[in-house]
Amino acid sequence: MVATVKHDDHKRMRIDAFNFYPGRQLLKKYVVVSRLGAGWEGEVFKVREQATGIERAAKFFFPQRNIKDKNSSFYAQKLHKLRHCPILIQYHTQESMTYRGIPVTFLVSDFVEGELLSAFLRRQPGKRLTTFEALHLLHSLAAGIECIHQMNDYHGDLHSDNIIVNRYGIGFDVKLLDMFHWGAPKASNIQHDVCELVRIFYDSFGGAKHYAKQRAEVKKICSGLKRSLILRNFRTAGQLREYLETMEWS
Ligand SMILES: Nc1ncnc2c1ncn2[C@@H]1O[C@H](COP(=O)(O)OP(=O)(O)O)[C@@H](O)[C@H]1O
Ligand SMILES: [Mg+2]
Repeated sequence: MVATVKHDDHKRMRIDAFNFYPGRQLLKKYVVVSRLGAGWEGEVFKVREQATGIERAAKFFFPQRNIKDKNSSFYAQKLHKLRHCPILIQYHTQESMTYRGIPVTFLVSDFVEGELLSAFLRRQPGKRLTTFEALHLLHSLAAGIECIHQMNDYHGDLHSDNIIVNRYGIGFDVKLLDMFHWGAPKASNIQHDVCELVRIFYDSFGGAKHYAKQRAEVKKICSGLKRSLILRNFRTAGQLREYLETMEWS
C-alpha cells in the first residue's frame, strides 16, 4: 500500500496509511516487525520493544481521526479501567512521534496471536459455523463481555473485524480489540452491545439463508434481529450467557 500524506492546508494534515517497513526503528525504542491491519481510526503494526525483545501491537491513530488525542486517550483510559476483563487486550503505554512532519500518537498494547473472526468464518465450510459451534462462539463472547457490562461499561464497536479467535476447540478463546467511545456509559450502549452480539451470532451460522431452519432456542436469541424483541429477553451480555447455560433443546 502506498502511504499517502495529504496536506489539506498548512494546519490540517491527514494520513491515510503509514508505510512502516519491517525493520524500521521508532523512537529508538521499537522496531517494526509487520503490519497487522487497519480500520477506521488507525493502522496497527506488530513491533518489538528493543530493550526487552517483547513483541507488542502498536496502534497508530490517523491524526484526522484523533483530534487533540481524544480517541486515543478514551481508548487507553477504557482499556485501563477494564484491565481485569480477560477478553480485552491489555494496554501498556502511549507514545508520540512525528511522521513526515505530522505529530502522531500511538498506543502500545498486547500483541494477540490468532485470526480475525471475519477471516476465520470465511475459511469455514460454507463460510459458516454449525449451530452448535456458533452457540459456543456466542457463549465465549457473552461471558467475556459480561465482565465489561458488570463494570457498567460497554464495548461500542462489536463486529467480526474487532474480534480475534485465539484458540478454537470445544470452546472458543476470543479477544476483543478496539472500542468506540459513544460518550459516558448508558444502558442504551450496553443494549447496543447485546444486539451486536446477537448479530455476530446470526452471521456466524450463515445469516438469513440459514435462519428459517434453526431451532426455537436459536430463534429466541436472534428474535429476527428485531432490537426491541432481543432486548425483551436479554438486556446485558450476562443475561445472554445465563440463557445459554440453562437452555434446553425442545
Ligand atoms: N493487539 C492486536 N493484536 C493483533 N492484531 C491487532 C491488534 N490490534 C489490532 N490488530 C489488527 O489491526 C486491525 C485494526 O485495529 P483496530 O484497533 O480495530 O483499528 P480501528 O479502530 O481503526 O478499526 C484489526 O482489525 C486487527 O486486524
Ligand atoms: Mg477495528
